[in-house]
Amino acid sequence: MSQIDVPEIDRDNLEERGIGADKTFDKVLEASVGRRHFLRGTATTAAATAALSAPGIFLTGNEAQAATLPLTFASVAETKADKVTVPTGYEANTLIRWGDPLFPGMAPFDPTKQTPADQAKRFGFNCDMVAVFPERFGAPAKIGRLPYPSYLMCVNHEYTTGTNMFPGYTGSENESLVEIEAHGISVLNARILNGRWSYDVTSPYNRRITGTTPIRVTGPAAGHAKLKTPADPTGTLVLGTFNNCAGGFTPWGTYLAAEENFDQYFANRSKVADAKIALDHTDYTVTAGATGRKWENYVPRFDCGKPEGVNEPYRFGWMVEVDPYDPTSMPKKRTAMGRFKHEGATIALTRGTNKVTAYSGCDTVFEYVYKFVSSGTYNTSNRAANMDLLENGTLYAARFNADGTGVWLPLDLNDPVSGPLLAAATYPDGTRRFQTQADVLINSRRAGDAVGATPMDRPEDLEATVDADFYGNGKMYIILTNNSSRQAASSTATVTSGSRAGAGRAVPAKADAANPRGPNRTGHIVEVTEAGNDHTAKTFTWRIFLLAGDPAAAATAVDNVALNGVSTFTGDRFGSPDNVTFDASGNMWIATDGTPSSYPFNDGIYAMPLSGTPGQPVAVKRFLSVPAGAECCGPLMSPDNTSFFIAVQHPGEDVAGVFDNAQSKWPDGEYPRPSVVWIRRTDGGRIGS
Ligand code: FEO
Ligand code: CA
Ligand code: CA
Repeated sequence: MSQIDVPEIDRDNLEERGIGADKTFDKVLEASVGRRHFLRGTATTAAATAALSAPGIFLTGNEAQAATLPLTFASVAETKADKVTVPTGYEANTLIRWGDPLFPGMAPFDPTKQTPADQAKRFGFNCDMVAVFPERFGAPAKIGRLPYPSYLMCVNHEYTTGTNMFPGYTGSENESLVEIEAHGISVLNARILNGRWSYDVTSPYNRRITGTTPIRVTGPAAGHAKLKTPADPTGTLVLGTFNNCAGGFTPWGTYLAAEENFDQYFANRSKVADAKIALDHTDYTVTAGATGRKWENYVPRFDCGKPEGVNEPYRFGWMVEVDPYDPTSMPKKRTAMGRFKHEGATIALTRGTNKVTAYSGCDTVFEYVYKFVSSGTYNTSNRAANMDLLENGTLYAARFNADGTGVWLPLDLNDPVSGPLLAAATYPDGTRRFQTQADVLINSRRAGDAVGATPMDRPEDLEATVDADFYGNGKMYIILTNNSSRQAASSTATVTSGSRAGAGRAVPAKADAANPRGPNRTGHIVEVTEAGNDHTAKTFTWRIFLLAGDPAAAATAVDNVALNGVSTFTGDRFGSPDNVTFDASGNMWIATDGTPSSYPFNDGIYAMPLSGTPGQPVAVKRFLSVPAGAECCGPLMSPDNTSFFIAVQHPGEDVAGVFDNAQSKWPDGEYPRPSVVWIRRTDGGRIGS
């Protein structure tokens, strides 16, 4: 296939905007926002702060450590409406849609005239994670506090569905190559003026990273034999990133994109001759035969039965780090953070040591919760010194004990306890599974098995409550979306469906203390408190924060929300929590993915206070609903709580309708278009009140 050209970057324009590191802050701010918006007194004070403290990224997990302010908006009703439904007094507006141009001079999007080269310059399909950085790194980023109107927005494009993208989809070569370019990440320059958001199509920061963009492999697994292919004999340079679900953002101003269900892109695992490679790929459920996408018909690296494809799945399932401030920079796959179906990666710093912790779940039933702790320390005054902090560190998997305690188990061959357990793990032919630490990282799932981690009910988002400088308070929330295969606590069955059942892995399927419902149709949330409130701790305590479902359900119903006879929440019913953000008032805002599988209404956003009393129910309110067939992704609250972003993913996705005959025609009444949406109060006030 043809290589996609990377758009030329206007270097002079970047310099004018302050990309050069030698500019004083005031000059940079002038260059960035223009004199007409420049309030010198405020900016000077803030500039001094910015120079000495951590860079003020637009949003961190946030200031959820602050006192809780009440959520006074009127809940939206349960609805199947084909629109973004918000409370009275709020408005929802589309920022960017699938197909919108990211470069100047492009024609309006025409779904009947798609080409790979054209898609590579437009906003991709099925937007998911959303993160925002101030255009000038280090600039105070509090919206409303400074006249700082310009941000770099990073958005993931998780996956494509040909039937929703092309009229009369057949799986042709052109359609397949367009889909490959519709994956990856978009970077766009988003602006706020008078409380309203738009994006600048002419900005030199705008960028697309797609399924063919060159990406460097770094860390312990770089260059490993399993990562080598005929096209990349060094095992260090991959084309593209796929299934970028959620992600994260770092104090040093980089964006993290997770590679989640990468297995679905690769065909013909059953034709892999090497039994160990075939088993490795079975551990990640790589497709046994043909894929529904048909890419393998046109691009040999997607066919595991061919030399070009046999190792290609090993090159996905990693965390990808992107520097949005340098549009010419090559993204990096960080192998030290492990290979699994990463939902995302959320960063928390530990005050005092300045170690970096990244929390990440493997989003599959009966899989594990992980954290990565950096070897190096965060430098508060030197951005360049932090750029490879995610290259070296220790990966842990979590064990949840029934007594409310827990252990972070190092996935480290050199650890005195874990090392022998990892060394004892074998393939069926008796050979050692983990010869090197790189082997451990390449199959983190099996490493988690070996050390005795706890299989969980699909770990989606893991979010620590951190302050504006990314320092955490030891609290971390695990969002477990559901697990219909979880059995009753009395069951003696092992897992027979879902995670790795075909790979000879036998784990008990019964409910346990941390996953107390079998089946778990509607999901739950676990609150972790790290020992000593230190995010690098080896032990923790935990409690069930909430069981999702229906507070009005009967005690014997599968969606009953009581734990030990005490309801865990009151208010609006919901199912399948997925990603969360926090506001500055101590509330958690949860996006759902799969509520319609339990209830006859659309997915959406639910808000609740974090500072509930253990054992007492929290009050949950439905803040918005997304259009028909969509899941709600990328929740993001601005620090001043006046802007809220969501990504509306797969509107209209269903089996009954295709393209313009889908169940959704949102947002324009023509055909469904995944889009990023911003919400605000019509009077510009604090969202939630
Ligand atoms: Fe892509 Fe884990 O949701
Ligand atoms: Ca997700
Ligand atoms: Ca999801």
